[in-house]
Amino acid sequence: MSEAKIFKVGSTRVVRVGPQVANFILDTIKAGHLEASGDEKMKTRTTIDLIDLKDYNLPIFDESGIPNRIHSPEGYDHEHTRVWSRHIASYDAFVFLSAQRNWGIPAELKNAIDYLFHEWKGKPAMIISYGGHGGTQSAAQIKTVLGAIGMQVVEKMVNMSFPSPELVGKAFKGEVLGLDAKSDTGPWAEHRSEIAAVFWNHMVTEMLVEN
Ligand SMILES: Cc1cc2nc3c(=O)[nH]c(=O)nc-3n(C[C@H](O)[C@H](O)[C@H](O)COP(=O)(O)O)c2cc1C
Repeated sequence: MSEAKIFKVGSTRVVRVGPQVANFILDTIKAGHLEASGDEKMKTRTTIDLIDLKDYNLPIFDESGIPNRIHSPEGYDHEHTRVWSRHIASYDAFVFLSAQRNWGIPAELKNAIDYLFHEWKGKPAMIISYGGHGGTQSAAQIKTVLGAIGMQVVEKMVNMSFPSPELVGKAFKGEVLGLDAKSDTGPWAEHRSEIAAVFWNHMVTEMLVEN
């Protein structure tokens, strides 16, 4: 059985929309669009979890060792790293969900990635970004970083632009964006079939099951 346990919110801002966006994507993936969902059996064998970086409270990288030389959680100095390591090691694939800050990867996401190495290596990864212009610069940087730690990054990325200045303003303040994975007219409705297709067809079916 191949399990895809997934999903990572890359923002720990005090006010943030990341969790709302994550839930929208989670619901979209779970509902899947039939034409985009690949192997239906695979859907029933796939567990999808949400990993919120905020729950791990990782300090700025504070390990004395180099993660690519560490092969078990016991090799790390700190309990927070061991907890993070065990958690990430138990997953088979990841969706990296991220906004961007000043055209780049949010520092806490980069920090969380840098803590580990073998826990990520070789696993499939899909990148979804959001922002004023879709968060494309952040997505490109995440792709480079994931390549450096040997993840199999899905070529097709999903970049979601806030559809109006009003939503940009709400996002800054962490207000409710009104995202609804069941709505055909709500914000980012046009991305739903793409999200489901990239997740089920490319990441789960092609990368996770066939390799
Ligand atoms: C310090 C900072 C820098 C930002 N830089 C960008 C940027 O370069 N491009 C962009 O589209 N949005 C930028 N934003 C807006 C964020 O993408 C937006 O606030 C989004 O809601 C952040 O995601 P979060 O709410 O999940 O933290 C920036 C926000 C902050 C706080």
